Amino acid sequence: MRHPQLNSNGELQHLLTIEGLPRATIMHILDTAQSFVGVSDREVKKVPLLRGKSVFNLFFENSTRTRTTFEIAAKRLSADVLNLNINTSSTSKGESLLDTIDNLSAMHADMFVVRHATSGAPYLIAQHLGRVRGGDAHVINAGDGRHAHPTQGLLDMYTIRHHKKDFTQLRVAVVGDILHSRVARSDIHALTSLGVPEVRAIAPYTLLPSGLEQLGVRVFTDMREGLRDVDVIIMLRLQNERMRGALLPSAQEYFKHYGLTQEKLALARPDAIVMHPGPMNRGVEIESSVADGPQSVILEQVTYGIAVRMAVMSILAAN
Ligand code: CP
Repeated sequence: MRHPQLNSNGELQHLLTIEGLPRATIMHILDTAQSFVGVSDREVKKVPLLRGKSVFNLFFENSTRTRTTFEIAAKRLSADVLNLNINTSSTSKGESLLDTIDNLSAMHADMFVVRHATSGAPYLIAQHLGRVRGGDAHVINAGDGRHAHPTQGLLDMYTIRHHKKDFTQLRVAVVGDILHSRVARSDIHALTSLGVPEVRAIAPYTLLPSGLEQLGVRVFTDMREGLRDVDVIIMLRLQNERMRGALLPSAQEYFKHYGLTQEKLALARPDAIVMHPGPMNRGVEIESSVADGPQSVILEQVTYGIAVRMAVMSILAAN
């Protein structure tokens, strides 16, 4: 069966998830992003690849990094960018998601960047556009519920490749609230597709989803054991807004066992890099001296996010 985000020629029509995305497509996005990194260093930062196209940012959930870097990326590609303010839009009067999409499509939207608290919302939009509207607009998932955050996964892979070159020689640990994390899911699918031989998940039992072993992931509940000799540490935010009931005794207790401190970081390889998708809870998931320390590439991730999002939008626009 054809992947829902690929067209009949196997080309990317939408970016909804990294799960099932061919390795060659992931590599093509990373290579294209590399060509855009230099654009940010030029005096004139714009290229005309999306000239005349309209990109609609639809963020039904809060965002700092993703929304802003999508806007910068689209503008660097010379697109017209519209940020729909959901709080003052007709969504607050009860308009349905698909009615909103139909109205924006009537304004000749070429691309929708969608963040939504409901897993599957970007799929629904992509399906609706294909069925009802003839299907030439593109949908990019900017994070849906606890399901997927594909551009975060891709920018994480770009950052890892920049520092470590060869995915097939790496041990990568993903640490924290894996149960509620769309970033963890996208990272795990990307890492396994790119041939990382050892992907580790480190979390308390209450924050581990089932089925990780079937994805080829080694599971650890002891952070000290799980961090031993890893090349990359991806810390995750505690998704308090998605937690039902008491999954953790307290933030202090969590930090003691699963917070990344200098002492725990010393168990990883000496050249290990520290990543975090943001927003960070300092003193809960990560010690400030580590977040701001020499092994941290957290702000680089944000910068590479622009080039990666430029890559995704330019590839979609060409298909
Ligand atoms: N990493 C990430 O998605 O951050 P924002 O919520 O600020 O977009």
